[in-house]
Amino acid sequence: MIRLKSQDEINKIRAAGRLVKAVLDAMQAAIHPGISTYELDQVAMKVIEAAGGSGPCIGYGDPPFPTATCISLDEEIVHGIPSENRILRNGQIVTFDVVCELDGWMADAARTFPVGEISPEKQALMDAAEAAFWAGFSQAKIGNRVGDISAAVQNYAESHGYSVIRELTGHGIGREMHEAPDVPNYGRPGRGPRLQEGMVICIEPMIAKGERYVTLGEDQWTVAMRDHEPSAHYENTIVVTADGPQILTQG
Ligand code: MF3
Ligand code: CO
Repeated sequence: MIRLKSQDEINKIRAAGRLVKAVLDAMQAAIHPGISTYELDQVAMKVIEAAGGSGPCIGYGDPPFPTATCISLDEEIVHGIPSENRILRNGQIVTFDVVCELDGWMADAARTFPVGEISPEKQALMDAAEAAFWAGFSQAKIGNRVGDISAAVQNYAESHGYSVIRELTGHGIGREMHEAPDVPNYGRPGRGPRLQEGMVICIEPMIAKGERYVTLGEDQWTVAMRDHEPSAHYENTIVVTADGPQILTQG
């Protein structure tokens, strides 16, 4: 069941989304070769706590996810667990995936950032993840269907030579982190649930330079590309309105 949100509820999700953006900004500002992913998660926790929010990823799932943020390096695509042993190195790309809860409502966004100087290939991959997001975003209008978003993301990525991860999808969000509908990054135009006013969804292209196949790490969380080629992720929480889609995870 897709739970449509009222204007009041959308405003609460937007407030949570502003916090998500502030967290991402603080984490980005802290990036430097030598910092651990644990320290970056601590940067996030300070911002979340100062705002009176919480991190619903903490304790989520089985085994319970331990931290507020997911931090994934290079070929890791999602759900990397912050650790003192994971140290950022020059030339890597790092993905922060952040969910915040404020006043009972949640928002979710992810970005991939460079660590120091990165190769043109990694930069192009990151740019393509963002551009694939905008391709999907532009289809998020009343009367279209979820498949229109999915197909736009897939077309953008694949026509630029990237593969699309299929095991993970975007999703609805609200009081829960994952609500209906799923928003896959591949699909066919005109298929899937119809987009309606008040639908709040996360559009989150996850793309890779190599093949699309992933493996699950021994920690039962970290998802990485099987061929170890780099991957990138770009996500925002958006709302479908009569005036078109709006981003809720911005400053
Ligand atoms: N944004 C991530 C997702 O939708 C957040 C996961 S939190 C975790 O999958 F606890 F599952 F890691
Ligand atoms: Co998400």
